[in-house]
Amino acid sequence: MAPLPRLLLPVALLLIAVTGEAYAGGTGHGHARYDRVFSFGDSLTDTGNSAILPVTAGGPFTNPPYGQTHFGRPNGRASDGRLFIDFVGQRKIMASSLLYLGEIGFNDYSFVAVFGNGTIGLVQSLVPHIVGAICSVLTDAIGVGARTMVVAGMIPMGCEPELLALLPGGGGDYYDRASSCITRFNQLAQLHNRALKRMLCQLRRDHPGTAIHYADLYRPITAVVSWPRKYGFGGMPLAACCGGGGGPYNFNFTFFCGTPAATACADPSMSVSWDGIHYTEAANRFVAHAMLRGL
Ligand SMILES: *[C@@H]1O[C@H](CO)[C@@H](O)[C@H](O)[C@H]1NC(C)=O
Ligand SMILES: *[C@@H]1O[C@H](CO)[C@@H](O)[C@H](O)[C@H]1NC(C)=O
Repeated sequence: MAPLPRLLLPVALLLIAVTGEAYAGGTGHGHARYDRVFSFGDSLTDTGNSAILPVTAGGPFTNPPYGQTHFGRPNGRASDGRLFIDFVGQRKIMASSLLYLGEIGFNDYSFVAVFGNGTIGLVQSLVPHIVGAICSVLTDAIGVGARTMVVAGMIPMGCEPELLALLPGGGGDYYDRASSCITRFNQLAQLHNRALKRMLCQLRRDHPGTAIHYADLYRPITAVVSWPRKYGFGGMPLAACCGGGGGPYNFNFTFFCGTPAATACADPSMSVSWDGIHYTEAANRFVAHAMLRGL
């Protein structure tokens, strides 16, 4: 468990200002519509701050094979390549600035879940606090002039190799039949998403001049882990590509990706999970395209 705090510390909100050209170059076609993107979130959203912030600098994301697919070297992103936000940068919404709130809350829920041995009551009680914190950030942002916002929902937490490996379950409906993910954590993610969507509806009513979009991460990831081959992925969607330990999840902190004991799979584009916590570039691209269709 030693590397845990370093891996997940980027819970702190990160502010990233990037130019549109960065994205246009990244995907090789089209033109970015934004002068700037302000992006907040955890390590699923961070395009490199954790590599330079003192608390997290020198962590696994700064070691190979992170970044092997894009840009060919470690760049602080927690993936083999680009993140959702890298693909979402080109968007059909017209505005000069975009505020993107990446998934927020996974770290809070998963820490409590893992240290609470998977009991769900305390974890559920966090939902209103986390959604309230997101509401407060959005309200402040609107107050200082933000008009176009994209707010990402929770990922299907129960499909994370980390949680599957650390909290193996018993019988009954512990595992979802279609996806083999942990039912209670996916239900928690859905609870979070319902509360988040209700909060966003209220914000839209309170601030009619704003465009507030909900970005669904839950459905595309659930679809891809349930029917990986249909979407061009390989047959073990719940196994980390990079790491070690074998088995259906290939996740063990002793072999965490980026440490000397870790190995990466031959073709990350066939995997959904890059390191057991974060997604591969292929999964990020798939989700971003689904997200854009849904906006
Ligand atoms: C979790 O389980 C371990 C081993 O059974 C036990 O020692 C620990 O007290 C439990 N923790 C909580 C928060 O229930
Ligand atoms: C992780 O790997 C270490 C080293 O091989 C082993 O001792 C430990 O039991 C493994 N942990 C789990 C949860 O499998």
